[in-house]
Amino acid sequence: MRTRDSLDFDWRFALGDRPGAEATDHDDGAWRDLSLPHDFSIEGPFTKDAPGGGSHGWAPGGIGWYRKRLTLAPRDLEGAIWVEFDGVYEKSDVWLNGHHLGRRHYGYSSFHYDLRAHARAGENLLAVRVDNSDLPNCRWYSGSGIYRHVWLVRTGAVHVERSGTYVTTPLVSPELAEVRVRTRVQAPRGIALELVTRIVDPGGGELTTETTRANSSDDQRTTFVQTLRIPAPQLWSLDEPALYSALTTVRAGGTTTDEYSTPFGIRSAHFDAARGFLLNGVGIKLKGVCLHHDGGAVGAAVPERVLERRLELLKEFGCNAIRTAHNPPAPELLDLCDRMGFLVIDEAFDKWEGQPDEAWWMKSKSFASDWEDDLRAMLERDANHPSIVLYSVGNETGEPGSEAVNRTIERLVGFVHREEPSRQVTCALVLPRAATFDERVAQVVSSARLMDVLGANYQEPLYEAIHEQAPDIPLLGTEAFKYYRSSRELRTGFDPQNPWYDVPKHPWVAGQFLWVGIDYLGESNRWPLRGYPSGLFDTCGFARPEAWFHRSVWRDEPLVKIAVFTAGPGDVANAWYAPSLAAHWNFAGHEGKLLRLQTQTNCESVELVVNGVSHGVRRSADFPNRAVVWFVPWTPGTLEAVGRNGAEIVARDAIRTSGPAVRLELVADRLELRADGRDVSHVEVRVVDGAGVLVPDADRSIELELEGPGAILGVDNGDLECEEPYRGKTRTTRGGRCLAIVQSKRKTGALELRAEGAGVAPARLKLVTSRP
Ligand code: GAL
Repeated sequence: MRTRDSLDFDWRFALGDRPGAEATDHDDGAWRDLSLPHDFSIEGPFTKDAPGGGSHGWAPGGIGWYRKRLTLAPRDLEGAIWVEFDGVYEKSDVWLNGHHLGRRHYGYSSFHYDLRAHARAGENLLAVRVDNSDLPNCRWYSGSGIYRHVWLVRTGAVHVERSGTYVTTPLVSPELAEVRVRTRVQAPRGIALELVTRIVDPGGGELTTETTRANSSDDQRTTFVQTLRIPAPQLWSLDEPALYSALTTVRAGGTTTDEYSTPFGIRSAHFDAARGFLLNGVGIKLKGVCLHHDGGAVGAAVPERVLERRLELLKEFGCNAIRTAHNPPAPELLDLCDRMGFLVIDEAFDKWEGQPDEAWWMKSKSFASDWEDDLRAMLERDANHPSIVLYSVGNETGEPGSEAVNRTIERLVGFVHREEPSRQVTCALVLPRAATFDERVAQVVSSARLMDVLGANYQEPLYEAIHEQAPDIPLLGTEAFKYYRSSRELRTGFDPQNPWYDVPKHPWVAGQFLWVGIDYLGESNRWPLRGYPSGLFDTCGFARPEAWFHRSVWRDEPLVKIAVFTAGPGDVANAWYAPSLAAHWNFAGHEGKLLRLQTQTNCESVELVVNGVSHGVRRSADFPNRAVVWFVPWTPGTLEAVGRNGAEIVARDAIRTSGPAVRLELVADRLELRADGRDVSHVEVRVVDGAGVLVPDADRSIELELEGPGAILGVDNGDLECEEPYRGKTRTTRGGRCLAIVQSKRKTGALELRAEGAGVAPARLKLVTSRP
C-alpha cells in the first residue's frame, strides 16, 4: 500500500561548497540542523554589492549542501520507492548513498528520483547540492535552497507511476458528468492486473466504481482508461468549490499493491472569443492578480498558512483569479485554490532565453535544453487541479509577431496540446514596440493566432482593434497596471485611470490580472529597495488604501473608504503604482491647510462629515472611477464618509486623529496553532493611543520575545526600503504597525509573545500549540 511521508524534518545544512559531501562518511557534525522548506537567501545579509543585484532583492545566493539520514525497513526495498522534490532553487544535484541520482536545473520545477537501485535496509544518506551562485538568473527574488517540501513515496512493486492518474471531465452538465480516468501502471510484463477506481463525493460517500482487468504490457507501462458516470454532480464553482476524489486500487495476481486517492473537481472551463470566460457555461470575469512565489519575510520557503492567509485577503477583496507569475507554483498553492475557489493561470516560464534584447538576466541557460522536461513536469503534476483553467507557456517572451517568438510559441503550445489537451493555452504577450498603433495590433494578432487565448499584457487601448481583426480569438488581460492604465504611449485622449474600465465594457474580454496582488521581493532597480511595491497588499498583507478601490469594483456589496493624498496629484512614480495615499487623519503641522482626499465607493452618493458637520453630498457618477474627490482643511478630529443608494445609508467609513502613542497591542490571525512545526500565526504589532486608535506617525523599534514551543520565523513592516533583517526579533513599525510570523514547533504547549517599544506600555499575547 502506498505511503507518502514528509521528509521535511531533520536535515543538516552547510552554506558554501563542500566537495565530497555526498559521501556517506562525510563529516557533517559541524553543520546546522534545520527543517524544510528552507531558503538560505532570506537569511541575508542583504547588501548593496550582492551579485544578484536588485533583481534578487539584494539578497545573497551561493551554494548550499543538505544531508538527511533516512532509515528504511527491508520491506521498503521490496516495492517502489522514490523521493519527490517540490522545488529546489536551482541547479540541484541529488545523491543517495553517494550515487548521483540526477540534476535539475530549473528551480521552479517539481521532480522525483527513483531510489530503488541504491537504497538499502537501515540507514541511508540523501545529499543535495544546490547551486544558485550564477546570479542574476531570474528577474525577481528566487530564493535559494530546498525551498519547497520533500516527500518519500513507498508503494508496491506493481504501482501507479508518479502523476499516473489523469482525471478529466469530458461531459459536464447539471444532470450528468462523465469522469474519464487514465491510469498508468508500472508492472513487469505478463502480470494479471486489476484496476479499481471508486469515485468519492465531496461529502465522503462512495458513488460509483469501475473495475478493469488487463495483462501488463511488454514495456512495463500499462495504460487504463475508465469512464465513470455521475448523475446530478456537484459542480466545482467559485462559491462552492466541491471536490470529489478518485480512489485508485491496483491489484496484481489478486493482491492489492497500490492504493491512493486523487482529488478532482467536476466543472467545465472555457474561454470563448465572443462571450469571455465560461465556468460551467456561465460567464465570469476573471478578477485576477499576478503573484510571485515569495511570501515576504519568509522568502521563498513559504508555509502553507502564509499562502492561505494571502488568498483569504485577496478573496475578501473580491479577487477570484491568480496568475502564477511566471513559473509553476508550490503545489499547495494549487490545492488551496482548489479548496477556496480561485481560477488559476498556471505559467511555465518567463522571458525565454535567446531573445537578444531580453537575454541579459537569463544567465541560467536551461530553457533551450530542458523546456520539454520542465513543461511536462508542470503539466503532469498539475493536470488534476480544477482551479487551473488556463496554461501559460511564457511571459513577455520577446517582440510579438517576430519570427523567433512565433516559432517558439507554436512549439510550446503544440507540446501542451499533445501532453495535456484538457485546457486552453496562452502566452502573455508584451506590448509591441512598433512605432504605429496598427503595426502593434498586427504583431499581437500574428502571435495570438498561435495560441488558444490571447494573453495581453498592458494592452487595453488595443483591445477593440485586436478584436476587430481577430474576433475568433478569446482575449484576456494577463497583466494590467494597478491604478493608471498605460496612457503615455497610447493616449487616445481619454484616460479612465482605471484598469478595470475595459473589462466590463466588452463581453469578449475574459478578465484581467493586476500587477500585482501582493508586493514581492526582487525586481528592484535601486538600493536599498528590496522588492516591487505595486501590490494591493504589502509584504505583511496589509491592504494599501487604493486596494479598496479595486474592492469597490470587484465586489457588489456597498462600500465607501476614505483615502487621503499624501503627495501632489502628479505624484505617481510609474503606471504600476497609485498615488501615495493614507488611511488616517494624523497631519499635525498642517492645521488649517487644505488636504485632498478621495472616497472610494460603489455607492450612488457619498456624504462627508467633518467633526460632526456635513461637508456636502456628492454623486459618485460625477467622478472618474466613482472616486469622489474632496478638499478639507485639516483639524484634528473625525472624518466620516456615508455611502447611500437613493436615500438609504448602505456603507460607512471613518478615520480619526489618534492621540499620543500609549501602548502596544498584539493582534493575531489565530491563537491556536497545530503543533506540526509548520503552522504559523500572523501577529500584528500595533502602536495605539489610549483609546486603542492606531498611531500612524509614532513609529518605533519593537523588541519581540517568544517563550514556549515555537519560533519567530520572520519579522516585517511592509517597507521594502527598510534595511532591517527579516530574521530576528526586532522590527521598526511603519504607519504604526509591524508583523511577526510565529511558527509552531512539533510540541504541544503554551506560547507567550511579548513586544516592547520605547515609551509605550508593552504587550503580551498567549498562543497555544495543540496536537495536529
Ligand atoms: C511586466 C512583466 C512583469 C513585471 C512588471 C513590472 O511587464 O511582465 O514580470 O516585470 O512588468 O515591472
